[in-house]
Amino acid sequence: MTRADDDRLRVGVLVSGRGSNLQALLDAAARPGYPARVVVVVGDKEQAPALARARAGGVAAVWLNPKDFGDRVAYDVALGRALDEHRVGLVCLAGFMRLLAPSFVGKWQGRMLNIHPALLPSFKGLDTHARALAAGVKIHGATVHLVVPEVDSGPIVAQAAVPVCDSDTPETLAARVLEAEHRIYPAALKLLAEGRITVIDGRCRIEGLPDRDAALFAPSV
Ligand code: GRF
Repeated sequence: MTRADDDRLRVGVLVSGRGSNLQALLDAAARPGYPARVVVVVGDKEQAPALARARAGGVAAVWLNPKDFGDRVAYDVALGRALDEHRVGLVCLAGFMRLLAPSFVGKWQGRMLNIHPALLPSFKGLDTHARALAAGVKIHGATVHLVVPEVDSGPIVAQAAVPVCDSDTPETLAARVLEAEHRIYPAALKLLAEGRITVIDGRCRIEGLPDRDAALFAPSV
């Protein structure tokens, strides 16, 4: 291990399912110069493909069975212990389907990211793609945000927008959003790891960005 490796931010990822966002973070962390690395993945489902992805990537994979704990607080204490054992400095939620105890969220406030498959504050909660289609929005997307006690809220770090097509089904739209998720999550983690994000009045200010970016049109004009 080189000295640069030692300096990288130690990230713990919490998962419940497929783990494609975890994979995107693992892939990004393998690139030279990336300022963070995944040191532990914790999941609540023994058979989650995400835990298998962690093992395949040579990362510690911990299964914490909710049935072994009396309540959410006890579960989250164990979760915290697993993260501390691996000296985690930042937590990424990547499809983790459990609600977290306020005490856990409080401990990690400002150091815990989540990815949500919609352009928050629109479409909080589940079934975001079907709801976006039903609402008839022309632009949909994904959001990476800092986690606060209220679900799918918290300062927004980054968003990715995708067009919604007339022919879309929830599945085709989900696939388009997921591709964007895989780009934006590693990018947002990088910004945080580089110390470029400051939260002021509940909003993230990002150091070193251009003042203006190009507009996205859907349909394109
Ligand atoms: C993603 O759509 C993410 O936005 C949401 O849960 C899904 C997890 O997918 N929070 P994966 O397990 O990362 O493939």
